[in-house]
Amino acid sequence: MKVLVIGSGGREHALCWKLAQSDRVTRLICAPGNAGIALGRCKNGSAVELAPIKADDVEKLMRLARLEKPDLIVIGPETPLVLGLVDKIGHELGIPCFGPGYRGAELEGSKILTKNLLRKHGIPTADYVVFSEPERAIEYVKERDMPLVIKADGLAAGKGVLMCENAVEAETAITRAMVDGEFGDAGKSILIEEMLKGEETSVMALTDGSTLAVLPSTQDHKRVLDGDMGPNTGGMGAYSPAPIVTAELETRIVREILVPTLHALRREERPFKGVLYAGIMVTESGPKVLEYNVRFGDPECQCILPRIKSDIVDLMEAVINEKLGDFDMQISEEPTVCVVMAAEGYPAKVTTGAVIHGLNAEGQLQGAEGVQIFHGATTRLKDGTVAVSGGRVLGVTATAATLPLAVSRAYQACEKITFDGAHYRKDIAGRALKRK
Ligand code: AMP
Ligand code: GLY
Repeated sequence: MKVLVIGSGGREHALCWKLAQSDRVTRLICAPGNAGIALGRCKNGSAVELAPIKADDVEKLMRLARLEKPDLIVIGPETPLVLGLVDKIGHELGIPCFGPGYRGAELEGSKILTKNLLRKHGIPTADYVVFSEPERAIEYVKERDMPLVIKADGLAAGKGVLMCENAVEAETAITRAMVDGEFGDAGKSILIEEMLKGEETSVMALTDGSTLAVLPSTQDHKRVLDGDMGPNTGGMGAYSPAPIVTAELETRIVREILVPTLHALRREERPFKGVLYAGIMVTESGPKVLEYNVRFGDPECQCILPRIKSDIVDLMEAVINEKLGDFDMQISEEPTVCVVMAAEGYPAKVTTGAVIHGLNAEGQLQGAEGVQIFHGATTRLKDGTVAVSGGRVLGVTATAATLPLAVSRAYQACEKITFDGAHYRKDIAGRALKRK
C-alpha cells in the first residue's frame, strides 16, 4: 500500500521509520519531510519520496492526495488537523486518515473551548475566566490573588502561555497578547487560570472514539538548559517509560480524565480518532488537565514508536476502523531515550546552514548499537551533505535493556555528531535515573 505522511519534524521521521518497517507499506511519501526521512527505505527497497508541500498548505496537500491517491494518510502536526484536512480528505476523496477531524482537533485549536468542555462535564482542571477585552482582563487581575496563568486561546506554537507572579506581570502579559497582538489572532481572547502546583506529566492514548489504548509513558524536557533552566522549547528530549506515571496514577488519569473526556467529546458531537494527548498536573487533590493536544508529542513520539512492537499500519487501521477494542497492542519492555540536538540560538532566532558531520549515507550513525537518529530540521545540500534548517535538528534516540544503558548510548552518539552551534541537554532522563 501507498502511505502519505504529513509533517517535517523528528516525530514525522519516527512515523516514517515505523511505517517503513511494515510489510504492508510498499510506497511512502512525506510532505514536506526532511533530509533524514528522504534517506529511508521501505522493506521492498523503494526509497521514501518527499513532496515539497508545507504541512499547513491544505489546498496543495489536497491536490497531492488527489494525484497520488494514497491508501492511508498519516498527519503528524496539529495545524493541518485544526485546519480540517482530515474532513476535506474524507468528504472529497474518502481516503482513510490517521488523526481527528476539525471538531475533534479543536480540543487543541481552542484552549477556551477545551476548558468550557472540561468544566461542563466535571473533568478536573484549573479554575479559569475568559476575556475578550483587555480592559476587563486588567481590571480582573488587579483584584485577583496571585500567581496566575494567562493563555492565548488559539495555536501559538507553544508560546502563548504566560506564568505571572504579580499584577504587573499579568498586566504585561495581557497587553502582549491582546493589545500588541504578539500571538496574532490566537491572542484575541484569553484565559486567566489559577496556577496549579505539583508535578507535571503527560499521558498519550490512541482512541477510535470509544476505546482507549494508553501508549507507553514518556516525560518531555521543555526547558532549553540542564536542570530545567532557561526558556521553554518544543521539547529538548524525552524518555520512556516515565516512572512518575505509576500504574496507579495512570489508572486515575484514565478513569478521571481520559474516559470522561471521550464521553464528553461524543456527547458534544466531536468525533475523535487518533492520539489524545493530555498534559496533566498532579496536584495534592489529584491529577488535573493543563491542556489537550490531538497528535503525538514531539519528541515523545520518538521514544514511543520504537517501543511499539505491533505493525503500525494495523494499529492505525484499528483506530480508523473503530476496532481498537479488538487490537492487542504489543509494547517492548526496553526503555528508550531521545536527546534533541538543537541549532545555534534555539529556541530564539536560529542560525541555519551549518553542515552536520558524523552521519553516514543513510543519515545515521555508523555502528552505533541501539541508536536511531530521527532528523528534524535537516536539509540535503546539492553536494549531498546534510545541513541544519531550523531549531530542533536531530533526535538522537537509543534503546537498551536498561535506562542507564540507553542514556549512555544516546550521549555517546551525540558526542560523535557535530555541527557549528549544536547544543543539547546533558540531563535527559536524569530524574528517572535519580529515582532508581
Ligand atoms: P499548556 O500549553 O496549556 O500546557 O501550557 C504550557 C505549560 O505551562 C504547561 O506545560 C505548564 O508547565 C504550564 N501551565 C499551563 N497552565 C498552567 C496552570 N494552570 N498552572 C500551572 N502551570 C501551568
Ligand atoms: N513536546 C510537546 C509537544 O509535542 O506538544
